[in-house]
Amino acid sequence: MCIVDLWCAETQDTERVGEILGRHVFAGTRIDCQGELGAGKTTFARGVLRGLGHPDPRELASPTYALHHCYEGGRLRMNHLDLYRIESTDPLLRQGVLDPLMEADSVALVEWPERLPSESGPPTISVEMAHAVTTGRRLRVTFLPEVHRELLDELIRRT
Ligand SMILES: Nc1ncnc2c1ncn2[C@@H]1O[C@H](COP(=O)(O)OP(=O)(O)OP(=O)(O)O)[C@@H](O)[C@H]1O
Ligand SMILES: [Mg+2]
Repeated sequence: MCIVDLWCAETQDTERVGEILGRHVFAGTRIDCQGELGAGKTTFARGVLRGLGHPDPRELASPTYALHHCYEGGRLRMNHLDLYRIESTDPLLRQGVLDPLMEADSVALVEWPERLPSESGPPTISVEMAHAVTTGRRLRVTFLPEVHRELLDELIRRT
């Protein structure tokens, strides 16, 4: 496993790291974004969508009432799941809600992956976000370097 720690002083920095991932991810990638309320998960997701070349990443908002939003128009389709309002034992999780995670030709980004049932397995890339001072965030990106060699190079250039 490769672990890269990044400091994001501003909202835009977090979005830019997401953008780097969006440029490098392959079809079938699942990105898990973990962090407390307001940590910047949705901000990061918007960056990923930008990196995928979506024409209007601002479209991506917190899917407050919908668990799932799908964004077309970039290099790959992106499924955005926000599981905040669901318990890991919720039967909904076994009724197709997680089907977007299985799409081999898309990218999935999951906020609150802690809610996923254990049989969902590990993500391709995991991003942990922590509040530091008022605006700064620490990001820890974890992935297999042999799969994402170029991503690693670009993240290291940024540190
Ligand atoms: N360095 C930073 N990185 C990311 N967001 C930041 C940063 N500094 C300040 N912010 C602000 O924190 C907020 C993060 O909100 P965002 O919706 O991305 O968080 P979230 O983790 O998705 O929250 P939720 O758990 O409610 O879904 C935004 O208003 C953003 O502008
Ligand atoms: Mg969010």
